[in-house]
Amino acid sequence: MVSLTSQIEAGKTAFDILDLRSLSERDRRRAERLVQEVVHRFGAREEDVRLVRSPYRIAPLGAHVDHQLGRVTGVAIDRSTLLAFAPNFSGRVRLESLNFPGRVEFDLREIPPKKDGDWGNYARGAALALQEHYRIEVGIDGVLEGNMPIGGLSSSASVGLAYLLALEYANGLKILVKDNISLDRFIENVYIGLNNGILDQSAILLSRRGKLMYLDTATEDYDLYEVPQVMPDFEFVVVYSGVSKGLVGTGYNRRVAECEEAARLLLQKAGLPVPGRPKLRHVPEEVFEQYLDQLPDVLARRARHFYTENQRVREGLEFWQRGDLESFGRLMNASGRSSIRDYESGSPPLIAIYEILTETDGVFGARFSGAGFRGNCIGLVDPAYREAIRVRVLEEYPKRFPEYADKVAVDFCSTDDGVRLL
Ligand code: GLA
Repeated sequence: MVSLTSQIEAGKTAFDILDLRSLSERDRRRAERLVQEVVHRFGAREEDVRLVRSPYRIAPLGAHVDHQLGRVTGVAIDRSTLLAFAPNFSGRVRLESLNFPGRVEFDLREIPPKKDGDWGNYARGAALALQEHYRIEVGIDGVLEGNMPIGGLSSSASVGLAYLLALEYANGLKILVKDNISLDRFIENVYIGLNNGILDQSAILLSRRGKLMYLDTATEDYDLYEVPQVMPDFEFVVVYSGVSKGLVGTGYNRRVAECEEAARLLLQKAGLPVPGRPKLRHVPEEVFEQYLDQLPDVLARRARHFYTENQRVREGLEFWQRGDLESFGRLMNASGRSSIRDYESGSPPLIAIYEILTETDGVFGARFSGAGFRGNCIGLVDPAYREAIRVRVLEEYPKRFPEYADKVAVDFCSTDDGVRLL
């Protein structure tokens, strides 16, 4: 087990410089195009343009427990946000996106407040997060592109970290992993107003290809579990439901508040001290078992999700190390069920995809990706069944949700390295 603090002592930063040639063919083509876009749209010199590759993440087990200081798993995948940028000395941030219209532009000396539904929020939040602790005066001119549909793959942390790393580079700052986790958390919690935990940015910062990240969000100790030799081939299917909307305004924050209320009641009933913002991790499992019946039904179910999900993470790590994907997959299915029944985070389209995946040959296990109110479902799958899985999902889902027939997408992804400045 590695502590994030010990990483600081080891002096490791997110700035391990990678050669452009190390990118996959697909990413190299995307990167070359974005570099040219920065040159043409902003008049930058090609030699000044740098690139951040910031992957999306998948969390096979450990859903909705990070905001309660639980245990999580995650992997970065081979789909990403790419941000090509050149530092500028005008102190302005100027950004364009190949996915969203318009230009985002602001002055680092006067960062505007959040604008609802505006894709520039994460850039403004990143600049503000850095301003809280460091002097940043050098701006960036950048063009970015993401290559997966939004929802559950943590595109927010992916772009947030891309902006952070770009601004850090432009301003000569070398910031450690632990601090980048906190900076990205500021963007989400303070600037955007989503009360989430540190799963997303940790997975994007810490992941390595072919390894499963495990993180205890209370102690911030983490580990990267190798794929054992006995493990059969696997990949992840990512199914987009056609539903994308921001997480603020879904039930996300309400669920967090319910978990905290459950924690507060349980601590009070047991006569234990109640911290300012109690988390379920502060409540010993025996206390939960003893007072479960005295909680309002909804709160009892939210708390049960927390304890059972933590248990699934612990068991999942054992199965992973034995290469037992069948058992690991069964835990993912159980995690999905718990999210639906106890945590109630699903939406009908997502639940339909979850059900289809769990009944499809070649799928070891499935669950919503990320928050699960919108966006994508993931499945751990046997690559030999790739086409059969694609055909079945594309046949079944539109029968249940014809309104999303032209939006549904099925992708297959592998694990990949975490965010890098190139
Ligand atoms: C979102 C949040 C994360 C985490 C997941 C659910 O992705 O941003 O912090 O809570 O949902 O596990």
